[in-house]
Amino acid sequence: MSDTKKLYIKTYGCQMNVYDSERMAEVLSGAGYEQSETPENADMILLNTCHIREKAAEKIYSELGRFKGLKASNPALKIGVAGCVAQAEGEEIMRRQPMVDIVVGPQSYHRLAELEARAGGGRKALDTDFPEEDKFERMARRPKMRRGPSAFLTVQEGCDKFCAFCVVPYTRGVEVSRPVEPILAEARDLVERGVKEITLLGQNVNAYHGHDGGGVSGLAGLITQLAGVDGLERIRYTTSHPNDMTDDLIALHGDCEKLMPYLHLPVQSGSDRILKAMNRKHTADAYLKLIDRIRAARPDILISGDFIVGFPGESDADFAQTMSLVEAVGYGQAYSFKYSPRPGTPAAERDQVPEDAKADRLQKLQELLKSQQVAAQERMVGRTVRVLFERAGRLEGQFVGKSEHLQAVHVSDPNLSIGDVRTVRIVESAPNSLAGQLPEQERVPNLPGE
Ligand code: 5AD
Ligand code: SF4
Repeated sequence: MSDTKKLYIKTYGCQMNVYDSERMAEVLSGAGYEQSETPENADMILLNTCHIREKAAEKIYSELGRFKGLKASNPALKIGVAGCVAQAEGEEIMRRQPMVDIVVGPQSYHRLAELEARAGGGRKALDTDFPEEDKFERMARRPKMRRGPSAFLTVQEGCDKFCAFCVVPYTRGVEVSRPVEPILAEARDLVERGVKEITLLGQNVNAYHGHDGGGVSGLAGLITQLAGVDGLERIRYTTSHPNDMTDDLIALHGDCEKLMPYLHLPVQSGSDRILKAMNRKHTADAYLKLIDRIRAARPDILISGDFIVGFPGESDADFAQTMSLVEAVGYGQAYSFKYSPRPGTPAAERDQVPEDAKADRLQKLQELLKSQQVAAQERMVGRTVRVLFERAGRLEGQFVGKSEHLQAVHVSDPNLSIGDVRTVRIVESAPNSLAGQLPEQERVPNLPGE
């Protein structure tokens, strides 16, 4: 029997979770685990859960039920639940699904190897504490692993905003920013291992305020320092709150060549009444003016957003204002959801909008957002864009990369390699991807549309 054990991780939800799953795999590689693509024959199954979607906890319980057979045929199999459902449900998970051995909250992933050693043979291990120590620094001591040309780097976790619909402040805790120096060190290390693009991650990333020498740096200061890292070509950040878009960060979108022209800036609703009920602390007009200022700094920036329809109290007139705001902004890409009550959040206790109204509004909003996305994709046809190639495509000789505007671009060309940044002429658009060709002669880097 080989010494390596197999680890199957299933990840739900946001990019933060994708990044966390990588970190958990790294921590567990220290305990002899190697990742496997399927749960069959695994020695450990880990569900990295997300609490934001509707009936998230119920879905996890039924997903766990599907592993019953595997556990019956291999009693040594360890089953763990991580992420925001683990944080929110805690011990309840083990009560409802006794086959779960480990429950671990997002603040405790560095302890996963320890929890794994403690669990099994009927023994359980749970850690959903919010420790005081610096969790980022323990994470930074994890075993290193080579990545593709694009990597995520967590700079901030948690949120103090307490939007009335959102569980993040409860499951991820209050906002904590990692100091600048270890972020720069991690970025240099990533670049040495072939990374060309870094996406700075945080639930409320533009509220970043990390220690920097004797002072404190905001996100703009951090990005400016990262831009000085040789070999790092692209910087992105997600997700942001409108109220934390500071003047220096907006200006940086015009001044910093490495900062990519794409911004995910959720507004949630276009109605001031609903924004107030959501505790968003800004108006629709303030958001529109903010978008104008961002576009003044970087005219070609592609704006993305999140929307919730059917928030408690939302009328047809409120929803019409959301549609108007979408028309006014012109999104390149967006996510939209029906409101779903999260236990423990203020809005869950309020009178709910009927399901059919929610479904009807979501359909209308999604049609509009889709048409804007298609238009944004079509506008790229005929332009030349810079593409960072990230992986092989499905077709022979095909490569897939991302434009500066975060649009997926497919190119079939034998001269390409993963990690290349090349100028590509866009020849065709589809709703979710673009097709391009390398020009005969590579041109000087330029911006799309120039
Ligand atoms: N119901 C529906 N959508 C939600 N989101 C967060 N909480 C809820 C909820 N209770 C959406 C928001 C947020 C995105 C990550 O998920 O739009 O920006
Ligand atoms: Fe949740 Fe974002 Fe609001 Fe924070 S700002 S409470 S993470 S929706």
